[in-house]
Amino acid sequence: MKQDMIVILDLGSTENAALARQVRELGVYSEIHPHDITPEELKALPNVKGVVLNGGENRVVDGIAVDVDPAIYACGFPVLAIDHPAAKGERKMDRLPDRAELKEFVFDVCQAQTNWNMKNFIEDQVELIRQQVGEKKVLLALSGGVDSSVVAAMLIKAIGKQLVCVHVNHGLMRKNESESVVEVFKNQLHANLIYVDAVERFLGKLEGVADPEQKRKIIGGEFIRVFEEEARKLEGIDFLGQGTIYPDIIESGTKTTKMVKSHHNVGGLPEDLQFALVEPLKQLFKDEVRACGVELGLPAEMVYRQPFPGPGLGVRCLGAITRDRLEAVRESDAILREEFAKAGLDKKVWQYFTVVPDFKSVGVKNNARCFDYMVIIRAINTIDAMSATIERVDWDVLQKITDRVLAEVENVNRVCFDMSPKPPATIEFE
Ligand code: XMP
Repeated sequence: MKQDMIVILDLGSTENAALARQVRELGVYSEIHPHDITPEELKALPNVKGVVLNGGENRVVDGIAVDVDPAIYACGFPVLAIDHPAAKGERKMDRLPDRAELKEFVFDVCQAQTNWNMKNFIEDQVELIRQQVGEKKVLLALSGGVDSSVVAAMLIKAIGKQLVCVHVNHGLMRKNESESVVEVFKNQLHANLIYVDAVERFLGKLEGVADPEQKRKIIGGEFIRVFEEEARKLEGIDFLGQGTIYPDIIESGTKTTKMVKSHHNVGGLPEDLQFALVEPLKQLFKDEVRACGVELGLPAEMVYRQPFPGPGLGVRCLGAITRDRLEAVRESDAILREEFAKAGLDKKVWQYFTVVPDFKSVGVKNNARCFDYMVIIRAINTIDAMSATIERVDWDVLQKITDRVLAEVENVNRVCFDMSPKPPATIEFE
C-alpha cells in the first residue's frame, strides 16, 4: 500500500468531513469509519498511523448515544480524542484542532508520511479491489454520470474484463450522451459493455403520466427492472460496483458504512439478487472523484459535467412526456450547452438546462399563425443545491441562444429565462 492513513471514527460529529479534508490537505490520506468498528476491522485497514475520535455535541448517531469499543485504545495506534471526556487517548481536546495542532498529531505523534495523491490512491484501490474480487466478476450500472464513470474506469484498470458494465438508454439522456458512453468505455477503454436500448419501453410506460412523483417512480422502478433482467442473463456475478461517494453517505444521515446510496438507481434490487458491494470511491469528495477520473484518463467533458438528475430529461419535459417536446428539450439543452461553453460559462455556472412546459402559445412563422411550445432557460449557482441564485447571463449570450433555439428546434416559438432563486423555486421544475 502506498498511502498512510489517519482514521476518523464517526461519533456523530458534523465536523467529520471537514476534519478528513484538513488531514488530506496536509497530504495524508484520511478515512471516516463508523464508531462501532471492531479492533480487528481497524487493524485490518491498510497503513493506519493514527486514530481520531471525533465526539461532537452529544455523541449521538441515528438518535442513539454511542461510544467506541474501549478495546480500540489498546490497538496500538496513537489516539486523538476531540470532545470526548471518557477517552483514554494520548491527546485530548475539547474543540477541533487548529492546523498546527493537527500537523503535530499527524506528523510528530503518528509519524505519517505525506503520500496522499490520486496516483497513490488509485494504486491502492486497484490492489484492494483485486484482493476483494479475486477471479470473480463485478456488475456495474454505467449511467455515464461522473461517479459511475469514474468507478467504471477504476474497475477496468483493476480487473479489466471481469467487469461487466450495463448501460441502459432510457431515452431521457442528453444529446449524444449514450453514444459517448459507448465510445469512451467500449471503443477506447475496451470495457465489457452491454448496451440496452430501452427507449421505447420507458416512453411507453411514461405515456400519459403527468404527475412528477409518479414519473420519477416509473423511471426509477423501470430502471431497476431492466438492470435486473440483464443481471439475470449473466452468470457468475458476485459483486456489484457502485459509485457511492462520501457526500452520499453524509446526506443519508445514517451510520457511515452500513449505508447504500438510497437514491442510487440500483439500490432497490430484489432480495434474491444479492451481491457484495465494491465501492472504491466511497471515501472521496466530489472534487476528488473528478481528479481521480482525470488521473484515470477519462475525458474532461465526462469528469467535469454538471449535475444531472437521475430521471434525466424526463423531469424537464414537464407533465406527460411527449416525443416532440422531449426532442425540443434535448435539442435546446444541446444548444444551451454549446453556447455556454463558447462564452466560458460552462466553467462558471453550477447548473444550466432547458425545460419545455406542456402548453403552447401563439406566434407567427412564415407569415402564418403558429401555436407552439416554449423553451425556458434556467442557469443557477449554488454551494449545496439547498438554495440557489440565478446566473446573470449576458444579454448577447441569451440572444444568441434564443435565436438558435427558434431557428433550429422544431415546434418552438418562444424562449424565456427563469429569474427565480431557490427558494421559493426549486432548481428543477418537477
Ligand atoms: P431541486 O429541484 O430539488 O434540485 O432544487 C436540487 C438538485 O438535485 C437535482 N435533482 C435530482 N437528482 N435525482 C437526482 O439524482 C432526482 O430525482 C433529482 N431531482 C433533482 C437537481 O438537478 C439539482 O441539482
